[in-house]
Amino acid sequence: MHQRTVHAVTGAFGFSGKYLAARLLRAGRKVVTLTNSPDRANPFEGAVLVRPLAFDQPDALVESLRDVEVLYNTYWVRLSHPRLTHADAVRNTEVLFRAAGRAGVERIVHISIANPDEQSPLAYYRGKGYLERVLKESGLSYAVLRPAVLFGLEGVLINNLVWALRRMPVFGIFGDGSYHMQPIYVDDLAALMFDQGASRENVILHALGPEDFSYAQWLRTLCGILGRKRLLLPVPSWLGYWGSVLLGRFMGDVFVSRDELAALTADLLHVPGVAPTGTTRLSEWAKDNIARLGVRYANETARRRDRVSAY
Ligand SMILES: NC(=O)c1ccc[n+]([C@@H]2O[C@H](COP(=O)([O-])OP(=O)(O)OC[C@H]3O[C@@H](n4cnc5c(N)ncnc54)[C@H](OP(=O)(O)O)[C@@H]3O)[C@@H](O)[C@H]2O)c1
Repeated sequence: MHQRTVHAVTGAFGFSGKYLAARLLRAGRKVVTLTNSPDRANPFEGAVLVRPLAFDQPDALVESLRDVEVLYNTYWVRLSHPRLTHADAVRNTEVLFRAAGRAGVERIVHISIANPDEQSPLAYYRGKGYLERVLKESGLSYAVLRPAVLFGLEGVLINNLVWALRRMPVFGIFGDGSYHMQPIYVDDLAALMFDQGASRENVILHALGPEDFSYAQWLRTLCGILGRKRLLLPVPSWLGYWGSVLLGRFMGDVFVSRDELAALTADLLHVPGVAPTGTTRLSEWAKDNIARLGVRYANETARRRDRVSAY
């Protein structure tokens, strides 16, 4: 019989996983990461032990989880492509949940998305909705956290918006820009995950920041913080999308995926009438960090190719 003392974080050298691992270590927990990027630069100086996130070896995954008390799952694939689709990410996550069940893990803290929906035409949202049901029906103790969009210095979406605003005198707004975004600070999400690791109550929690602005308001706010006058030009969403495709190709990346754009303009990046769970205001955090925010393009595709450099 193994004693369960370990807290396992998928992707502890990535974005949200790194903030969570730091919190767990500060609290004196024994932390392992399940990752396919074992050599990625990280600030933990060997304090986080590495085990493989081997979806093709379920038995090995079970062994990796034998001494684990709580599994925090950040695993997901942002950009679906033929070699690794959202459906693959769903299957892999099911393998992970099953392995956790077989290993006797006491609790899973799982990151989902705001407004997941098994019936959604968007594979990202459909997959997340399905996985919530799988976890609920697994018999494991669970907490599901639903962020809309994260911000932090290693983040992609907000960082790259600011990166583009720094460089472009004219910036296209998809449609009228009236749809909302409610971003949560990555360390506020990590705090929620940490707290949920200590509970055994089955819960589904919104993970939303305190500010709920329209996309157009966010762009104006970020331009104000940058101190740059920009012409924010409403353009049809399809035209904005193709503009972003060109920009992404130029950077060797995908600036915004079809699913992300569809979700944004369908108002899925916020949940009206829900009390915020994060406390950090993006508008204030951006002011404090503007010297570093959006200075460098955050390239999601390069992060997957280069598994050694830090985000
Ligand atoms: N970032 C956001 O704005 C945002 C918004 C809403 C919801 N979420 C959700 O929050 C969770 C964590 O997001 P994050 O931004 O913190 O993620 P992340 O650190 O970039 O990645 C988390 C984990 O997923 C793995 N991973 C990511 N992309 C992969 C790929 N293409 N192929 C194989 N493995 C991949 C990483 O593997 P390695 O350890 O091998 O690197 C890592 O274990 C996800 O479930 C995401 O859906 C994020």
